[in-house]
Amino acid sequence: MDGDKGLVALSATVKHFLSQPKKALIGGKWLAAQSGKTFDVHDPSNGQVIAKVAACEKADVDLAVAAARKAFDQGPWPRMSPAARGKIIWKIGELIYHHLEDLAQLESLDNGKPIAVARAADVVLAADLFQYMAGWATKIEGHTIPLSVPYTPDAEYHAFTRREPVGVVAQIIPWNFPLLMAAWKLGPVLATGCTVVLKVAEETPLSGLRLAEICQEAGVPDGVINLLTGFGETCGAPLAAHPQVNKVAFTGSTEVGKLIVRAAADDLKKVTLELGGKSPNIVLDDADLELAIPGAASAIFFNHGQCCCAGSRLFVQEKVYDKVVEGVTKIAKAIKLGPGLDPNTEMGPLVSQLQLDRVSNYLQWGSEEGAKAMTGGKRRGERGYFVEPTVLVNTHADMKVYREEIFGPVVVAIPFKEVDDELIRRANDSVYGLAAGVFSANIGKAHRLAARLRAGTVWVNCYNIFDAALPFGGYKQSGWGREMGHQVLENYLETKAVCVNL
Ligand code: NAI
Ligand code: MG
Repeated sequence: MDGDKGLVALSATVKHFLSQPKKALIGGKWLAAQSGKTFDVHDPSNGQVIAKVAACEKADVDLAVAAARKAFDQGPWPRMSPAARGKIIWKIGELIYHHLEDLAQLESLDNGKPIAVARAADVVLAADLFQYMAGWATKIEGHTIPLSVPYTPDAEYHAFTRREPVGVVAQIIPWNFPLLMAAWKLGPVLATGCTVVLKVAEETPLSGLRLAEICQEAGVPDGVINLLTGFGETCGAPLAAHPQVNKVAFTGSTEVGKLIVRAAADDLKKVTLELGGKSPNIVLDDADLELAIPGAASAIFFNHGQCCCAGSRLFVQEKVYDKVVEGVTKIAKAIKLGPGLDPNTEMGPLVSQLQLDRVSNYLQWGSEEGAKAMTGGKRRGERGYFVEPTVLVNTHADMKVYREEIFGPVVVAIPFKEVDDELIRRANDSVYGLAAGVFSANIGKAHRLAARLRAGTVWVNCYNIFDAALPFGGYKQSGWGREMGHQVLENYLETKAVCVNL
């Protein structure tokens, strides 16, 4: 954190990319905001400006939605053969692999995540998502349905369903996995033959812009993917409310998720949401602690705790509580903080000053309410948005740090006595239901817990395992619908029943 020595040198292509004016992609053309306004993008490790991007607003939203509408209603994309579409989607994945290092550098610089993580997880998972979705383009099938219509006993029918693209999609994504969230969103849009206006997060617009270039290079026709950079209220809100949009897909805070639903209500757009979490991670006293301790640490500290599925409530059975808390604390203390582009960094800065302030407020409230920090509990240094990995004990279920999503490297450790209804009640005692973890060597107990946890994902003896084939999403206020797997295709398809009188 002292100076920029030892950082990965940015490639010539990344430097060139950063030096070019950043515009919005609308109808296949790169356009400045209609207002001419731009805003700054920061390096979260030092607060310096690394790029200026277009500040898109309602006028840009109108143009982008019109372009997506035209591409859907008249363009080649929804009419192209599924195999031809699939090949283009596959090519996007190939090009992401080809530009892996550049994309990882951009992501690390813009978001602050360690370059090694960007390389091994974000970029590779994004490429894989497109290649997984490429295969679905040719496998979107309806059914034939035998009819028994009681009032036409003598008629014969051929009845079947067609799956058709829902139309023009508006997508709004956050900053924690900028490239990967764009991939999760765009992959199924392309596979189903929809067209889209994607608004990337104002904190981290760069990898999305680069991805849009890659999609053009792969052969996605003009107007199919339109990409806007801008703020939530001035760009996201008019996009979510736009009357020419058929469907909205949002990832971000639960608070804004509710605004999206209201914005979509007037004309009853289809909506899917991937929102917050306060996920329980449960360590039983029979667990292999060599697995459970690092597992519990990475459940919360991965991506600096800026994960909607972070294992932020760590329940540990009494017999092993001290040992697990001690082990996680030891790992937390040893985590090397630094800029994402330092190859030795294990945890980077939080994404923004705002996020630093939010997490700092929680740490302050926690300490005022009597929580004790085994380690961490404060900001690190004066430069950049670094927060120390923090393990809180002596918490109770009424505290803000216990109930609310902190979205930083802060875990509350909670002891429990028995694996019983009371444990299940406490684990499920949250407005959220995104993910959960169970560490146990007893396969029966682990499965019974997995079945009773009200969460969209349960990881057993692992955490934060993602795969393009595995559906992801929330129960309760963690969201509507699923990302990834074949389930995500449902978000972008209509079902048409065709009934033919033979
Ligand atoms: P946010 O929900 O405000 O932002 C996410 C996206 O929504 C961004 O693209 C933003 O521009 C857009 N947006 C904001 N207001 C909007 C509006 N009125 N209409 C349409 N779009 C709008 O999240 P933010 O402010 O970045 O973070 C706040 C908290 O949200 C975090 O502390 C964390 O708890 C949670 N969060 C959850 C995420 C998840 O993956 N589920 C990701 C990011 C944040
Ligand atoms: Mg916000």
